[in-house]
Amino acid sequence: MNIQKEYRSKIITADEAVRLIPADSTVVMSKGAGVPRMMVKALAEHRHEFEGKNVTLYHMTTLGEGECISSLCYGTFHHLTNFVGANAREIVGSDYGDFFPAYFKDVPSLLGNQIPCDVAVVAVTPPDASGYCSMGVSCDYEVVAVKKAKIVIAETNDRMPFTTGRTLVHISELDYIIPCSYELPILPSHEGGDVEDAIGRHCAGLVDDGATIQVGIGAIPDAVLMSLRDKKDLGVHSEMFSDGVVDLVHAGVITNAKKTLHPGKMVATFLMGTRKLYDFIDNNPMVEMFPVDYVNNPYVIAKNDNMVSINSCLQIDLMGQVAAESIGPRQYSGPGGQVDFIRGAAMSKGGKSIIAMPSTAANGTISRITATLPPFTAVTTSRNEVDYVVTEFGVAVLKGRTLRQRAQSLIDIAHPDFRDKIANEYERRFETYREYVKMHKG
Ligand code: COA
Repeated sequence: MNIQKEYRSKIITADEAVRLIPADSTVVMSKGAGVPRMMVKALAEHRHEFEGKNVTLYHMTTLGEGECISSLCYGTFHHLTNFVGANAREIVGSDYGDFFPAYFKDVPSLLGNQIPCDVAVVAVTPPDASGYCSMGVSCDYEVVAVKKAKIVIAETNDRMPFTTGRTLVHISELDYIIPCSYELPILPSHEGGDVEDAIGRHCAGLVDDGATIQVGIGAIPDAVLMSLRDKKDLGVHSEMFSDGVVDLVHAGVITNAKKTLHPGKMVATFLMGTRKLYDFIDNNPMVEMFPVDYVNNPYVIAKNDNMVSINSCLQIDLMGQVAAESIGPRQYSGPGGQVDFIRGAAMSKGGKSIIAMPSTAANGTISRITATLPPFTAVTTSRNEVDYVVTEFGVAVLKGRTLRQRAQSLIDIAHPDFRDKIANEYERRFETYREYVKMHKG
């Protein structure tokens, strides 16, 4: 069959497609800016047809309206994720959702094994002349989901940028096609304040010319990128990147010329930003995207000499345990690629990893540096792996430092209003320990 004929023979509407989802099945949906917007909406509109059908939706960071993960659908679908986006926090924390702890890089191998993958619902570009569609902005687990699912439903969106690397699926792999033309959801850049600027400057001091960087999302990574404007020949190997990276390419800062892996190319597994980013990556041979089990593999990351990973966290205790995904029992996000990149950077020749965060949260009422983490808080990065920690008050070097040394350097970069309190709490820890030793000697 020729490409156009095959394409046309698979066309259905989103309303028809939701009816193809069988009872007792798990639907794996593409994510981030690559969400299948028509299906996300249609699932919500047809929610009553799913009552009692035991359908689970697997999703991660659904940008846009996210109709099928909203409270509208409470009690209809079950929700499964290992990274909770803002609009999924409520449902994942309810009786209708479950969170499973796993490194992002392991998701492709979990799909079809521990995590069922009955139906894949993805968003792709329309096919090229040879019948290949690109996963565009998000190829981390989606390429694998297409291969493993029994039913593949694809929205072919002519606004999806065409990216290459390992992002291509052939229309012969798609069972049903929903042609569409809608704008991708956007993730606007953050406006940084004085705190973010200071953090950015401290981080920039740790990034040498020629380094390869990984940056996450949010106000801190955006501020760090702004502070790198005077650097030369930076490269990018990152789980994701956003508009800030485009600005640095245009400023001639990011050239990828010194990269020891994929020289000349920026590597990522998903991208979220504005139309500026989506236009930049469209058919751009400077950008290569691969599934997350490759991009986030610490051994792959480590092949980049001078790899610097820059991630953020919610809290850190004085031993250096990094809590980046939960506030007490509340699952706020997920581990993402934080640990993978910290490990990769640790194995890279000349590599370093940075955890950067404002010293306080909740309008200055809570110190993010605490003597101990609150009960039920998940530790994302262990104290054995943490390297540099940065706040607006400076840089703490933890790697190779004793408990006492690291506690002191963290207190030194805590907000001055909290330093005495944290120091006193921590001192009590040592007193308790000394008393314990005395008791057990006796
Ligand atoms: N106690 C109470 N509230 C806290 C808190 C704490 N210790 N720490 C943060 N908060 C609040 C903040 O005040 C903020 O509230 P607001 O939205 O009402 O202002 C909210 O929680 C979010 O905190 P913030 O630090 O602004 O979050 P962020 O959007 O910058 O994201 C992480 C930070 C850590 C959640 C995010 O980087 C993440 O998910 N990391 C893990 C995954 C990862 O590192 N991936 C890297 C590869 S992409």
